[in-house]
Amino acid sequence: MNGIVLAGGSGTRLYPLTLATSKQLLAVYDKPMVYYPLSVLMLAGIRDILIISNPPSIPALRALFGDGSHLGLHITYAEQQEPRGIAEAFLIGADHVADEPCALVLGDNIFHGAGFPQLLRSSREELDGCMLFGYPVSDPYRYGIGEVDASGALVSIEEKPAHPRSDNAITGLYFYDSDVVEIARELVPSPRGELEITDVNLAYLKQGRARLQRLGRGFTWLDAGTHDSMLAASQYVQVIEKRQGVRVACLEEIALRMGYIDAEACHRLGVEARNSDYGRYLLELAETVG
Ligand code: G1P
Repeated sequence: MNGIVLAGGSGTRLYPLTLATSKQLLAVYDKPMVYYPLSVLMLAGIRDILIISNPPSIPALRALFGDGSHLGLHITYAEQQEPRGIAEAFLIGADHVADEPCALVLGDNIFHGAGFPQLLRSSREELDGCMLFGYPVSDPYRYGIGEVDASGALVSIEEKPAHPRSDNAITGLYFYDSDVVEIARELVPSPRGELEITDVNLAYLKQGRARLQRLGRGFTWLDAGTHDSMLAASQYVQVIEKRQGVRVACLEEIALRMGYIDAEACHRLGVEARNSDYGRYLLELAETVG
């Protein structure tokens, strides 16, 4: 399975923070926002990753991750010229998807919870068409919404409905088979001028090949697309990290624990960053893990 991180958009809801930099490079507590979605793909066992962003942000993202080899990954980059919708990721990334299934994650989505790596892996194995991940929210009109019947089957999907049929938000993590490129090619822009990911999901639903995996109430899903949600996400990560002494979405740690890099490589990364708590955390990991 290949992966795509869509770190595009103009970030207008975060002005003036995003006047000179991309939203996904802003801090969520102790690391850039884009670390969090990238960590999700890594936890799913995906190592071949395309990062799509607006042209001015690509050099900064490249400076951040390079070719990904220090994390045992293969990272490439592509430009989204204009914010023409999430589903455009599959047109831009058609060659990257090729004949493989693909996971797409949005650059401002943060997922955290026990058992998540296992859930990602079983969702990969069970994939037949499309797998969506649902999460109960108090403000469903802000999201894509999935309605599920008594047997747990997905029966409807609506984008930002004025009168939501359920509180089950469809999160910004999507698993698709390789048909997704063909489906994306047939989309027409919505009234707001975007290729909507909800229309991709509806195409799979029509074929009877869309499933929704619920993330339970003990799980955390946050988006960091507004000033308040960004601060809330930072505070959440701070609380967990301070309380438990672990780091959320520490890419080097995930690479080490997944066996993508060895302890020696982790130590080297720690030495480079040893003036920060983050770097000292890596040095400690290199001693204790692996
Ligand atoms: C997008 C999708 C929406 C999804 C959300 C998750 O909304 O269109 O279906 O629920 O991401 O973050 P946007 O953030 O573009 O408003």
